Amino acid sequence: MGPVKTPICDFLEKYRKSAVSRLHMPGHKGRQAMKNGLWEQIPFELDITEIRGADALYEAEGIIGESEQITAEIYGVQNSCFSAGGSTLSIQAMIALAMQYGGRLLAVRNAHIALFHACILLDWQPVWLCPAYDERQGLAKVVTAGEIAAAMDADPLIRTVYLTSPDYYGREADIAAIAKEVHGRGGLLLVDNAHGAHLRFLPEDRHPMHLGADLCCDSAHKCLPVLTGGGYLHSNLPVEKERIKAAIALFGSTSPSYLILASLDLCNQYLAGPAREEFARLSRWTAAAKEVLTRRGAALLHETTDPAKIVLDCLKMGYSHEKMAARLRENRIEPEFSGGGKIVLMVSPQNPEEDFLRLENCFPAEAKTRLPDSFGCCPVPQTVLSLREAAFSPWETIPVSQSVGRIAAESKVTCPPAIPIVAAGEEIGEIEKKLLQNSGIFSIKVVK
Ligand SMILES: Cc1ncc(COP(=O)(O)O)c(C=O)c1O
Repeated sequence: MGPVKTPICDFLEKYRKSAVSRLHMPGHKGRQAMKNGLWEQIPFELDITEIRGADALYEAEGIIGESEQITAEIYGVQNSCFSAGGSTLSIQAMIALAMQYGGRLLAVRNAHIALFHACILLDWQPVWLCPAYDERQGLAKVVTAGEIAAAMDADPLIRTVYLTSPDYYGREADIAAIAKEVHGRGGLLLVDNAHGAHLRFLPEDRHPMHLGADLCCDSAHKCLPVLTGGGYLHSNLPVEKERIKAAIALFGSTSPSYLILASLDLCNQYLAGPAREEFARLSRWTAAAKEVLTRRGAALLHETTDPAKIVLDCLKMGYSHEKMAARLRENRIEPEFSGGGKIVLMVSPQNPEEDFLRLENCFPAEAKTRLPDSFGCCPVPQTVLSLREAAFSPWETIPVSQSVGRIAAESKVTCPPAIPIVAAGEEIGEIEKKLLQNSGIFSIKVVK
């Protein structure tokens, strides 16, 4: 690729310099109403709305459309659309688009809550595929092409397959093999790639769109230098971009943040420039850090293949995740997540080497506690109402201790995205009650 243009950033810069009277939204008019130290760094001047020349996110035919086209070229896909509402918005749009193809939706159950909400809004009840479960780890295993093929064969009405890869623990599914099975059966493959926008730039391209997904969402903000909320919806569907935009517009705000859009625009330059080299370096640094950590006695989740993740298996070290998180914080490290006996650490090329050294210096860590080595199973409870029927029914909040026999009116998905203990419309049994309590969830909305 030649030099990459940044049309959104250029427009904002020009508008800032033009010093015109802003008789339009937003109310700050590009000025600092409050002089308050650090907060004077918020670039109000660059935060505009869809004025003339600034294009419109859902009918992007100007600077936004141009920038999105550059992104599509970088990712090697037919269409890329920007999201200022993260992957949550892109997931809603993906489901709305796939629904237009008819048939049933097969969804791998370790999905982010955004999928449950999209299904509620669109009234599309998924057929759940519960991947094999690792009781010792308390984690769903990575779904396999065989499991997908078997589920599709069992229900020939399935037309769309939805899965999450990489997951929160940096484990990647075999998308190429799965795409082959799905396409071989005339289906569409949707991938929640919220954690994998960078996979395209690894020494070997492992981005789901490259491996055969038809639609996929990337939270660019999770692992690329993009402001929080910035994401992509990539499509290789044989449909006009207009249709994809229409699906996004069903759910998105009509006031998207131009600061987020500008950061996506600027990121194009990064992706076409130093990204490959920087992610190759990140891969080396992560591999080296993992080696040092292992040598110093740290237990890591072995299935993690994404170089942007390091997952500490605290229980294997005789630590609770709380104690290990406290140890990290003592060493001035803030983890992404701690729970279920694990700690998820997210790294990117923007982390200086010092951050890796700090992490290494937390070890060796003396084991403190002997903890249970099984989290038990996670079955799929019986569905009584659809997600939508349950979510829109009158509900009340009750203690989990009194919930057996009641129908959940909300989906209880622990963070990180894991198999939900119970989804809206499912009956809570003794097992679910115990699992909820073990996960520290003591109240739940149930259908009245
Ligand atoms: C797997 C997965 N999918 C989707 C989302 C939603 O992404 P966003 O926060 O960008 O809306 C998340 C957020 O953490 C996630 O972990």
